[in-house]
Amino acid sequence: MTAEYQVHGDVAVITLNNPPVNGLGLSTRQAITAGLEKAEADPAVKAIVLTGAGKAFSGGADIREFGSPKAIQEPNLLSVILAVENTSKPVVAAVHSVCMGGGLELALGAHYRIAAPGCNVALPEVKLGLIPGAGGTQRLPRVLGVEAALNMIVSGEPVKSEMLAQLPGQKLFDKLAASPESLAEEALAFAREVAAKHADGFALPLVRNLPCKHKDGDAYFQFARNMVKGMAKNFPAPPKCVDAVEAATKKKFADGMAFERETFINLMWTPECRSLRHLFVAERAASKIPDVPEDTPQRSIQSVAVIGAGTMGGGITMNFLNAGIPVKVLEMKQDALDRGVATIRKNYEAQVKKGKLKADKYEQRMSLLSTTLSYDDIGLADLVIEAVFEEIGVKEAVFKELDRVMKPGAILASNTSTLDVNKIASFTQRPQDVVGLHFFSPANVMKLLEVVRGEKTAKDVMATVMTVAKKIKKTAVVSGVCDGFIGNRMIEQYGRQGGFLLDEGCTPEQVDKAMEKFGMAMGPFRMGDLAGNDIGWAIRKRRYQEKPDMKYSKTADLLCEKGRFGQKTGAGWYDYVPGKRDAIPNAEVVQMIEDHRKALGITPRKISDEEIVQRLVFSLVNEAAHILEEGIANKASDIDVVYIFGYGFPVYRGGPLNYANEVGLFNVVQAMKRFAKNPLDDAKFWQPAPLLARLAEEGKTF
Ligand SMILES: NC(=O)c1ccc[n+]([C@@H]2O[C@H](COP(=O)([O-])OP(=O)(O)OC[C@H]3O[C@@H](n4cnc5c(N)ncnc54)[C@H](O)[C@@H]3O)[C@@H](O)[C@H]2O)c1
Repeated sequence: MTAEYQVHGDVAVITLNNPPVNGLGLSTRQAITAGLEKAEADPAVKAIVLTGAGKAFSGGADIREFGSPKAIQEPNLLSVILAVENTSKPVVAAVHSVCMGGGLELALGAHYRIAAPGCNVALPEVKLGLIPGAGGTQRLPRVLGVEAALNMIVSGEPVKSEMLAQLPGQKLFDKLAASPESLAEEALAFAREVAAKHADGFALPLVRNLPCKHKDGDAYFQFARNMVKGMAKNFPAPPKCVDAVEAATKKKFADGMAFERETFINLMWTPECRSLRHLFVAERAASKIPDVPEDTPQRSIQSVAVIGAGTMGGGITMNFLNAGIPVKVLEMKQDALDRGVATIRKNYEAQVKKGKLKADKYEQRMSLLSTTLSYDDIGLADLVIEAVFEEIGVKEAVFKELDRVMKPGAILASNTSTLDVNKIASFTQRPQDVVGLHFFSPANVMKLLEVVRGEKTAKDVMATVMTVAKKIKKTAVVSGVCDGFIGNRMIEQYGRQGGFLLDEGCTPEQVDKAMEKFGMAMGPFRMGDLAGNDIGWAIRKRRYQEKPDMKYSKTADLLCEKGRFGQKTGAGWYDYVPGKRDAIPNAEVVQMIEDHRKALGITPRKISDEEIVQRLVFSLVNEAAHILEEGIANKASDIDVVYIFGYGFPVYRGGPLNYANEVGLFNVVQAMKRFAKNPLDDAKFWQPAPLLARLAEEGKTF
């Protein structure tokens, strides 16, 4: 049973019990209505408490039912809420910990509400491209006032119950319990109190009957629309939230509900909503590894060592300090250690200055940091992460030392971005303990973590590092071993297309603008300037040796020959003013591109934004299809997660493969065939990957 029914004297208690967050799936909904009927039929019961077991009152809809007929099967949530409202005995919702989405809408159907302090209250539907669909937009303004309710609905952000209980005139909570522990007792007492009040047939209060007005309605909603327009950009739901709350103030309750429903259903069919829901599920699915069951025993990680205090080592260290895990950093020389620690301090101090970090927290974090020049000092760490120079010889020396000093069972991780993790593992006598942890720069900011699974990496190591990733608030995706792993292997093809586009007639600015209009956080050339153009240059030099028949534009090499490595040198594809990140187009670079084009005998053509976007995005898609087929990625949605959290792909497009599904794989393949005919492009690359070709032919999706 996903909700339990118990009678405590004259009060029936219905307890939602559908772990992890009491999602309102079909069986839970059935159990609630069954409980209500039982209570209604029992003459000894005078009142009903509706509450949640474990970690939540309710987190809302059950995501496992997304897109399945179960989600709307009766009793659907609207019917359950109606059943609560229509119960002839008072229903008291007792909420604690998490009361979100459908959970809050359910509570709003109850006659009374009591909350524990510290409860996170939210209507987060907007984050999935939706508006609340079970009365949230109509009932919340009636209990909180229009402005407070609209703020919550448009942002989707949780607000603490004790904050809400303080709002003047609020009717959301009739009572605030003294503590989460006393909530159950207090709810029972409160239920008895209201039962006595209604014993003589005094009508039960319903939120739907409360008035809903704003004193300067038209002006306020105009203002709200303008605010939301600036914020929402390509997201369809926020303006609809404003419409729905306005409807609550202007229409009768039933008409407002109909308006909310219609808006909800229309949004459900937008590609943005589908993409956001895809991403929501994809992010949660990324932590699951097909052959590593959830109950795989894990190793305990209480302390960490980091080798190398450079750009990455420093950022990686901060992640663990932030999570309260002590870190010992090892370097070759004292001055490198001092520099690394100073950078960590500087980063924290900037956060303190901005008010994002309290001074005592800063000191607390720094107190978890220690340093050493000797391997003999780190042997007891549970996890060691290597972030030294990207040279196999250096890695070999480091891993041999680690093999010598680390205690048995310690996890040995490398942050390499291009080297073979199997080879690195082979430098030790314990390849089963070696794994790749590929952080993205800046490592203390970027959410993505590629976990690189070597041929011999043990399952418990995989399970442990996935948990560690969660602890340090990263979104981890598993990748097999290959050059560039998932993300960088794909970006190489994307970069190659960017080069061809310059040769054929584009400017860097045109390409970047088209991609930014598509929704990328940054176009490819601005991204190159940020990451450092020398990194791509080094990779290309290697490729010229390894794959002499692979086609490349030479434009980026010419740029690097001028020393224009990007933001770090103040000049790349664009110019940069010290301290600022604005990309200023540079006439010499444009001239350099034109000259190179002339030298190649190419007559420039006008290239549409559509072609730019398709060539760049579909290059990601084709490489991703190879990656998927080779088993480097476990599932298509993992690749989408990599691109959203590591490469600034627009969330409302749900990642490159979700986007390809939306465009239709048939159309994607057709476009690739067109690109293959362009003599200046790489016809071989545009042969659709076998998996993609097959799916397109069968009318399927990734
Ligand atoms: N910079 C990035 O964007 C990025 C992103 C992902 C992964 N990586 C990878 O992270 C690793 C480190 O890159 P980085 O950008 O931080 O380099 P970095 O040059 O900033 O830092 C490397 C540090 O390692 C130290 N070091 C070198 N050899 C050592 C040894 N034998 N023992 C101890 N310390 C040693 C150096 O003194 C230096 O401080 C590389 O493998 C790189 O490929 C870098």
